[in-house]
Amino acid sequence: MMKNIAVFASGFGSNFEAIIEAANNGTLHANIALLVVDKPACYAVERAHNHNIPVFAFNPKDYDSKEAYEKEIVKQLQAYQIDLVALAGYMRLVGSVLLENYAHRIINIHPALLPSFPGTHSIEKAYNHGVKVFGITIHYVDAGMDTGPIIDQESFKKKEGESVEEVETRIHQLEHQLYPKVLERILNH
Ligand code: GAR
Repeated sequence: MMKNIAVFASGFGSNFEAIIEAANNGTLHANIALLVVDKPACYAVERAHNHNIPVFAFNPKDYDSKEAYEKEIVKQLQAYQIDLVALAGYMRLVGSVLLENYAHRIINIHPALLPSFPGTHSIEKAYNHGVKVFGITIHYVDAGMDTGPIIDQESFKKKEGESVEEVETRIHQLEHQLYPKVLERILNH
């Protein structure tokens, strides 16, 4: 039986697209069963529509608490029989309701070599810090910000004179390659 993945996003959704692509070309044996977004107008939603993937879009402001909207998310995940949650640019801390219901089944991708540069604007922060080796991290999600056990990392050395935009492009390419591979490993090995 193919496992069901839910992807959570807040923005552009290029990692979501890479995961869909891997499922379509057979390198990832899984159904991309649901997209969850906390920003109903984000571009990831359009990608889901293009691929006929159901979307659960919510606005956190419509709920009294994180617990309240996460209960709603859990209902959706159960309805779609989700086996694994893949955060892909979901810019929100995961709370206790999701963590308790999907323990060890939520993973995240981060555009830095954790534990360095957690949070937002990580690539820019690392670049401005003058790091020579850039990279990405895929890890299990816990209650912290980009903490949790590391599953895999990839890195590369900055080229002489490389701009932050060029570094960013390479980071995203690396993310798009590694995320589907790690999902396949977790689900099917
Ligand atoms: C990705 O680079 C991801 O690693 C990062 O957001 C971007 C989303 O891009 N996540 C974080 O910074 C988490 N702290 P995408 O929407 O095009 O996939």
